[in-house]
Amino acid sequence: MAVAVAGRGLLDPGPHPGLDLHLLQQLSPPPMFPAAPKTELVLRSPVPAAIASKDMEFYNLLKPWLGDGLLLSAGDKWSRHRRMLTPAFHFNILKPYMKIFTKSTDIMHTKWECLVTEGHTHLDIFEHISLMTLDSLQKCVFSFDSNCQEKPSEYIAAILELSALAAKRNQQILLHMDFLYYLTPDGRRFRRACRLVHDFTDAVIQERRRTLPSEGVDDFLKAKAKTKTLDFIDVLLLTKDEDGKGLSDKDIRAEADTFMFEGYDTTASGLSWVLYNLAKHPEYQERCRQDVQELLRDREPKEIEWDDLTQLPFLTMCIKESLRLHPAITYIARRCTQDIMLPDGRVIPKGVICLISIFATHHNPSVWPDPEVYDPFRFDPENIKGRSPLAFIPFSAGPRNCIGQTFAMTEMKVVLALTLLRFRFLPDKEPRRKPELILRPEGGLWLQVEPLSTGAQ
Ligand code: HEM
Repeated sequence: MAVAVAGRGLLDPGPHPGLDLHLLQQLSPPPMFPAAPKTELVLRSPVPAAIASKDMEFYNLLKPWLGDGLLLSAGDKWSRHRRMLTPAFHFNILKPYMKIFTKSTDIMHTKWECLVTEGHTHLDIFEHISLMTLDSLQKCVFSFDSNCQEKPSEYIAAILELSALAAKRNQQILLHMDFLYYLTPDGRRFRRACRLVHDFTDAVIQERRRTLPSEGVDDFLKAKAKTKTLDFIDVLLLTKDEDGKGLSDKDIRAEADTFMFEGYDTTASGLSWVLYNLAKHPEYQERCRQDVQELLRDREPKEIEWDDLTQLPFLTMCIKESLRLHPAITYIARRCTQDIMLPDGRVIPKGVICLISIFATHHNPSVWPDPEVYDPFRFDPENIKGRSPLAFIPFSAGPRNCIGQTFAMTEMKVVLALTLLRFRFLPDKEPRRKPELILRPEGGLWLQVEPLSTGAQ
């Protein structure tokens, strides 16, 4: 299997909208790929994304869990589903989720206040935030409240276990072979957790189908939308393709499970690292807090509304700069479906897998001077003029970019704003970055957490 690692590049997007593959020149190995071969190449002058399909080497490990959901499907199936699922992320659907984000954040804050009162002032915020994003997602996808932040939930434990097992298996090349893996204790645990997660999703779909009228489903769901939040399951039941055909139950399960997988860890990583960066830069932390205080000054309860999301430009710059420095997903993989001729005449043959390093692209010193420095002003509207849109790609780019990016940005803004209103963060142990399925802090992300007095709010 040939692999080319690409990054530090995407400097010159050319006329095509797709992120994809022309490799230009050799560079030294990037910091995030200790196991990668020495050939590292830079992407430039992209050709249309249609020529590159996803590499399934790693994604195949997720297949028993996520089935043919958007992340793993390909070809016509993927195009049809992508079109059908896009309305699920329309702002009309996302707007009511703001209340869900607020409620889940409140639960986390109450826990933090109790812990601090008991003397636990140093917290692994990554663990807490992961549970909180899982709590929100389970409510947005299934309208199900498992109270997982307050007491153990079998379903949430299974999702956490599946993610951990997939990351572990990814490192054990021999166990990529199914017949070996499923003989191991980990393989059996993976199978068990998969069954539990699927049973949960199937049960919600069956229950929802049972309560749907046999006719007039559209009218029923539209009426529901007027009185109640439509969750993703509702939207997946409602969606139709151009021929008026809906999704099968198996398809709905795959898409719902994919949202649960793609949506929690990524957002938790984004949020944890931005709190870390703000803990290291108290001046930026204070400026964000003041903006939120100003915005919510005369408001009770202190909740962020949809229209407020554009009223927090500095906080948004802080999130973006954090996603640059600590992108939740550090690389994506694509397989060339045709030969690609490089400008110097060399050819990347059809079938080669290209690893595109988001991390290295975000640390390219010719685009980002002093790339290791956290500087939100890089995203000041004045400073982004003239910069390639492909220089900053935390959500990837092109047709197979992240469908959940507005959901994720909305959640991160709401959680960060409300959290800075109630707590101050100071640095603790310096974390080591550990790229697994997502960019994790090894051993957790520990920060000192100080509740703010009501007066300070
Ligand atoms: C900070 C948060 C997030 C980041 C940084 C992120 C990043 C990404 C990236 C880089 C990809 C491309 C993966 C690849 O090509 O291999 C992707 C795909 C995807 N993301 Fe996200 N994501 C985030 C949150 C979410 C959320 C909240 C959801 C859903 C609720 C979601 C759903 C998806 C799906 C379904 C895909 C596959 C899209 C396709 O292939 O058509 N993501 N994401």
